[in-house]
Amino acid sequence: MARRKEKMITENGQSSSLRLFLKKSKDQEFNKRVSEFYAFIDGVRKNKNNSYFRLIDSEPGREVLVRDEHLDTTRKMLMFASNNYLGLASHPYVKEKVRSAVDKYGAGVGGPSILNGYTRLMNELEERLADLKHQEDCLIFSTGYGTNLGMVSSLVKKNDVIIYDSLSHASFYDALKLTKATPVKFKHNDLDDLETKLKKYSQKSESTVFVCIEGVYSMDGDLAPLDRLIPLVKKYGAYCMLDDAHGTGVMGKKGSGTAEHFNCSSDIDISMGTFSKTFAVTGGFVAAPKEVITYMRYFARSYIFSASLPPMNLAAVHAGLDIIEKEPWLRKNLFENACYAFEKLNPYGLVTHPEAAIIALKVPEWMDIRKANSMIHKRGIFLNAIEYPAVPVDQQRFRISLMAQHTKEDINKLESVIAELWTSKHCEKFD
Ligand SMILES: Cc1ncc(COP(=O)(O)O)c(C=O)c1O
Repeated sequence: MARRKEKMITENGQSSSLRLFLKKSKDQEFNKRVSEFYAFIDGVRKNKNNSYFRLIDSEPGREVLVRDEHLDTTRKMLMFASNNYLGLASHPYVKEKVRSAVDKYGAGVGGPSILNGYTRLMNELEERLADLKHQEDCLIFSTGYGTNLGMVSSLVKKNDVIIYDSLSHASFYDALKLTKATPVKFKHNDLDDLETKLKKYSQKSESTVFVCIEGVYSMDGDLAPLDRLIPLVKKYGAYCMLDDAHGTGVMGKKGSGTAEHFNCSSDIDISMGTFSKTFAVTGGFVAAPKEVITYMRYFARSYIFSASLPPMNLAAVHAGLDIIEKEPWLRKNLFENACYAFEKLNPYGLVTHPEAAIIALKVPEWMDIRKANSMIHKRGIFLNAIEYPAVPVDQQRFRISLMAQHTKEDINKLESVIAELWTSKHCEKFD
């Protein structure tokens, strides 16, 4: 099936598949490779169906100003592709706190935490995040990506085993390359498969077994069933590493994350999160027992050898935590919007039942996803198309992220555009 579609993609003008290009260019010498890639991307840009690197000229709110290079105009679009779930990036309180942090502490720190970048704001934020995650201590990294690299490469050693969910994020897959531990994949959210692997690998006394999962899976928006999964991890004496990038600030009664949602926060051994989703800035953190954090402070290379986050970034996260505490209605709105969007979009075919603020809409067999996204763009809706080869060809999807600020009218508009496209059964007719 995948092969058939790959051929079809080539025939209908989408010979711009990155995979086809990569196959062809794999062994080319440097100059040829980069210049052919340049020509390839230029071709993609010129065919007007490219929805990457769209130029945004406003705050990342529910509505954004997008520069349209083909029409040479700037116009308003409804944003359904941002992880700024609670709208914190443009919250007046957050902006005010960021401005005062710049006035008081300046724009940056000029070095890594271990040498000269460990600020009061960072120290206080680590304490707040450790509390949020019901852990003893916390360590802040400059990106979420670097957090996963530093966490896995410093804590997991050669004799150890990492059992991980097949839908783990790219940053985790890259982290795996930095360790000599034995990697063992289990089928997405399949607890029988996990138990089979736990049984097999927990018998070796010389190795520690880590089970690495996500709270909210970033592509599909479904949750890891922590209520049933954590008891299994405990039963086999393994350690749980939870990446809750998309759950932190969103899930749970107080916004602590997916573990709070399942009432098992204190059972998570090592909790990872990012500042790039709900907090809408950048950075990441690990919250864990004090011995684990102290070890990482001295051995996580992406922490030691990378400059510390600037005060304004830390101030934004502090302010975000204040808002999450003081304005629970934002999360209530977000979930009402997610439920409403689920009701509206379910008839068009979802990848799975979403439980957070991400909805993955299946792309029908007949649809050219790139052309379809270009049509959706023309109708003023900003969506992310998750294309082959990022996912298998029969699993291409549109990834829709809800925000607390979306209105019912926004979601109705999204649905009407999807309805028009889906019923037309042909991207070209939709103009
Ligand atoms: C599950 C997950 N983990 C880690 C990351 C990396 O985070 P960042 O973008 O903050 O570097 C992401 C970002 O997409 C993610 O979705």
